[in-house]
Amino acid sequence: MIVVASDHGGFALKQEILDHLRERGEEFEDIGTYTPDSCDYPDYAERAARAVVAGTYEKGILLCGTGIGMSIAANKVRGARCALCFDGLSAELCRQHNDANLLALGGRMIGPELAKRIVDRFLDTEFLGGRHNRRIGKFPEIESRN
Ligand code: RB5
Repeated sequence: MIVVASDHGGFALKQEILDHLRERGEEFEDIGTYTPDSCDYPDYAERAARAVVAGTYEKGILLCGTGIGMSIAANKVRGARCALCFDGLSAELCRQHNDANLLALGGRMIGPELAKRIVDRFLDTEFLGGRHNRRIGKFPEIESRN
C-alpha cells in the first residue's frame, strides 16, 4: 500500500502519478491535497511520513513544486528516509543503498513521463542490505544526538 500526497505545486503531476499507479494495479491512498488551491506542504509531508514509519503504508510518494520542501519536511520525521529524485538512476539507488521509504518529486521540475519512470524504478527496486544496513543504521544514531 502506497501513500501519495502533494501540495498545490505538485497537484497536477500527482494526478498523472495516481493514473499511473492505477495502471500498475497498485493499492494506494491519496491523502491530499484534493484541490489546486494554495496549501502548506509540511502538513502533508508529515502526515504521509508518519504513516509510512508507523507501517500503515509500505512507501510514500510526495509531490510539491520542487520536491525540495516535501523531502526536507518528511525527513524531519524519525525513521523517514525520503529521497528527492530527478532521474531514474537516483530512484533505483535510493532504494538499493538507502532503503528510501518515501520518494519526493517536483511537479514544476519534471514532466509526467519522466516522473512515471522514476516512480517505476522506486517501486520496483529492492534494498540491497549488506554494508548499506550499517550505514542507514547510523541515521537513528544521528537523530538520537539531536
Ligand atoms: C509552493 O509555492 C512551493 O513552495 C512548494 O510547492 C515547494 O516547491 C516547496 O518546496
